[in-house]
Amino acid sequence: MPIPVILDCDPGHDDAFNILLAAAHPAIELLAITTVAGNQTLEKTTLNARRVCAVAGIRGVPIAAGRERPLHGPIRVAENIHGTSGLDGPGFGESEPEVPQDPRDALTVMRETLLASPAPVTLVPTGPLTNIAVLLLAHPELASRIERIVLMGGSTERGNTTPAAEFNILCDPEAADIVFRSGLPVTMFGLNATHQVRATPEVVARIAGLGTPLSGLCVDLLTYFASTYREVYGFDAPPLHDPLTVAHLINPSLVSLVRAAVTVELTGTHTRGATVVDLHGVTGRPAVTEVGMEVDTDGFWELIVEAVRVLGSR
Ligand code: BDR
Ligand code: CA
Repeated sequence: MPIPVILDCDPGHDDAFNILLAAAHPAIELLAITTVAGNQTLEKTTLNARRVCAVAGIRGVPIAAGRERPLHGPIRVAENIHGTSGLDGPGFGESEPEVPQDPRDALTVMRETLLASPAPVTLVPTGPLTNIAVLLLAHPELASRIERIVLMGGSTERGNTTPAAEFNILCDPEAADIVFRSGLPVTMFGLNATHQVRATPEVVARIAGLGTPLSGLCVDLLTYFASTYREVYGFDAPPLHDPLTVAHLINPSLVSLVRAAVTVELTGTHTRGATVVDLHGVTGRPAVTEVGMEVDTDGFWELIVEAVRVLGSR
């Protein structure tokens, strides 16, 4: 039986590949895509989700917009990494994508999807955790409808947006705190894991070699992403963070996991938004979160290339 999944995302170059992977792989049943402000404003991330679905031929999956700002504090975007559109690189054109936005808001879509699914649903957030926190606060009765939460965010090490904090967690630390303390099973793929999956020129060449319009668009996405990661961080190839979540669902042996207590720094002077991951059990806090560690990178790229191939040949 495929795993029923709701993707909650802020596309975003790496979010876009996660949508492709979830839609293409038979082990996943993509029930809905909800969007959140993060890499760009909510309006842009929602448009981008529709664009990705339109170019990849993904139809019949509701796309609903969620929160346009964090629970507390100002909105922050990652224009330096994802560009002014949030998905810079390919020419998407000016016309409206033919995939519509669902008229319901993300909270309603998540609620109705959870209630309608015969099996508990896995939530896969790959942006700030605002929508998920709002769902958990507004509908505690739906907790039993949630199988687990598999998220991209944080790190066992340092951050990327401040020296201490990773982007998704920093955007809405209070929401992240609610999710990590929810009592639901949480699996976290942070920068310590995602920095192992770099879209090298060899990977890009494999995708280019598929020779479809979709593969060309993916190459344009990765080329832009490579340029900003080079400029901002000096990386020779950009890490494709978000698809580690769905890749893990497809093949749980792809990333090794350890259990640890994870807490979110809410008040630090220079460390707000940091994930404090107790890998050695020194705090005595219960080690309830699964944390991604070592990645089988070849296996990961196999899945990505295959997803682009499958969708491009439909
Ligand atoms: C995370 O932040 C975003 O820019 C990416 O889409 C990813 O979800 C990496 O820190
Ligand atoms: Ca993201």
